[in-house]
Amino acid sequence: MKLLDGKRGVVFGIANDRSYAWCISRQLMDQGAKCVFTHLPGAKMEHRTRLAVEELGVRHPWMMPCDVQKDEDLDAVFGRLKQDFGKIDFLVHSVAFADRRFLEIGNFHTTPRAVWNQALDISAYSLLAMGQRAIDVMPDGGSILAMSYYGGEKVIPGYNIMGIAKAALEHTARYLALELGRKKIRVNTISGGPLRTLAASAVGGISAVFDHYKHKSPLGRNIEGEEVGNTAVFLLSDQSSAITGENIHVDCGYSTIGV
Ligand SMILES: NC(=O)c1ccc[n+]([C@@H]2O[C@H](COP(=O)([O-])OP(=O)(O)OC[C@H]3O[C@@H](n4cnc5c(N)ncnc54)[C@H](O)[C@@H]3O)[C@@H](O)[C@H]2O)c1
Repeated sequence: MKLLDGKRGVVFGIANDRSYAWCISRQLMDQGAKCVFTHLPGAKMEHRTRLAVEELGVRHPWMMPCDVQKDEDLDAVFGRLKQDFGKIDFLVHSVAFADRRFLEIGNFHTTPRAVWNQALDISAYSLLAMGQRAIDVMPDGGSILAMSYYGGEKVIPGYNIMGIAKAALEHTARYLALELGRKKIRVNTISGGPLRTLAASAVGGISAVFDHYKHKSPLGRNIEGEEVGNTAVFLLSDQSSAITGENIHVDCGYSTIGV
């Protein structure tokens, strides 16, 4: 018996086979979960997500376009989930965006209002938008997971507006956990160590961050995507049935060190 046998869920955020969402999906499926996916709208975006999903061994994947800035896209995804499956058991939010021109070391103070609003909308409000719709497709309860980063707790030069968005994301998860708890829906975040992905490549000074983690973390190395995937398995399974509103660091212990 595998940990996620009989469970089905939706994964937002596979761009390619380096995405955190891809690593998470692989481990979920390895534990028996059935996953369905969304991708950014447009043929090119659909193609790149489809290639990555097929690499996970999924033939004829269930995929829907979704720009999380658009309520109508979210409504369409959750409407089809309800129509096709009746209910789901878990949801993975692995989505973030900020204008890379404002992710340079030293330029946080120049962030314009529109750049702030877009980053917070895509990277944090989207969790609330998914959570409110998930209630309808999780009538028997469920588990929601979002991906965060330590830059939401401490200042990491160059992470800038994304740090603000991650602080908002983590606290959104806690408030959602309170209100969805009585509906037996749990909401947690994983604060993952740096991983070489498309999103990470937009952050100024990211190469130095990988070196820093290697030298400073108690385990003396960077994380593997699979390790975050394994923690996702735990949080989306019944093994974590009393855990909600939590932020679990999967960072080789980096966040526990003061100097
Ligand atoms: N890579 C890291 O070092 C790292 C560390 C900790 C947390 N995270 C977080 O992990 C999550 C996934 O990022 P990743 O590193 O795998 O990079 P990624 O680029 O592979 O994934 C980011 C995803 O966000 C999606 N996205 C962006 N704007 C969107 C929109 N408007 N609507 C719908 N989807 C949209 C992209 O299509 C992409 O699939 C993010 O929340 C990121 O902040 C990343």
